Amino acid sequence: MELDCNNLKISLQKKGRLAESSLQILKSAGVELESSGGRLLVRARNFPLDVLFLRDDDIPEYVQDGVTDLGIVGLNVLKEKRAQTAQLDYLGFGDCELCIAVPKRGSLRSFRDLSGKRIATSYPNILREYLKEKGVDGRVIEISGSVEIAPSLDVADAICDLVSSGSTLRIHDLVPIEVVLKSEAVLVANPCSLENPDKKVLIDRLRTRVRSHLLARKTKYVMMNAPEEALDQIQKILPGMKSPTVVPLAEKGMIAVHTAVPEEFFWDVIEKLQITGATDILVVPVEKMVVS
Ligand code: PRP
Ligand code: ZN
Repeated sequence: MELDCNNLKISLQKKGRLAESSLQILKSAGVELESSGGRLLVRARNFPLDVLFLRDDDIPEYVQDGVTDLGIVGLNVLKEKRAQTAQLDYLGFGDCELCIAVPKRGSLRSFRDLSGKRIATSYPNILREYLKEKGVDGRVIEISGSVEIAPSLDVADAICDLVSSGSTLRIHDLVPIEVVLKSEAVLVANPCSLENPDKKVLIDRLRTRVRSHLLARKTKYVMMNAPEEALDQIQKILPGMKSPTVVPLAEKGMIAVHTAVPEEFFWDVIEKLQITGATDILVVPVEKMVVS
């Protein structure tokens, strides 16, 4: 299969921490892919989109050079590669931290102890910049993988590597002492693609779908019954959404109130609603919340 030059192109990680969720986010945006059969280039069935599967480290440069219009990549890789791309949306998955860690039973205790010490990492650019900014004069030892073994081989005194579950550090008797960067998956674009009207339309369509899914994930739809006179109070409790839907019930003096509530306020809101006399509170997940 060849690239279709009218199609939008996106690069995704082929294997690794973001691979599965990146496909999932396209799916949640209603984009179905033809079966890949291990191919590195796959076309979408129902959206003008070609998907390229790459090593995550290559994605920033492919997007910068316009090989693909879009990419999904970890903020850690994006910052390390220093490619010129436009950062569009945080995607709410692939959360991890780039941390400095030291041997559990060694003499190093804090970040400030690292002056003059060797720090092994596959993120030399981010680390150098961080050390400089903080005025700690550590020596950066660049290694492309298995960084966690460097201290026990006496190749380094500390490491700077991604931590997700923390199990890699634990297994190697290392403890984190400093968070250098908080990372998650981001959607990035080639700046020229954003200026191309045909591409821009497609990018906006895709982004609307993705963001509608992300917003829905953080929102609950709440239905309740309440005495009519409680309506004023209920409206004050409901956080910043548009006005709720209010329907009279068969029972005189009673109403049903329906509204969307952001998950972050959720329990707070429910507990306050109960005090107003709201009953039969029903909470349902929201499938999509269409952003405009
Ligand atoms: C990172 C890092 C550790 C591991 C940490 O590698 O280098 O090996 O993940 O995760 P944990 O805290 O859950 O144990 P990654 O899987 O990103 O591979 P890569 O660096 O080769 O892309
Ligand atoms: Zn990688």
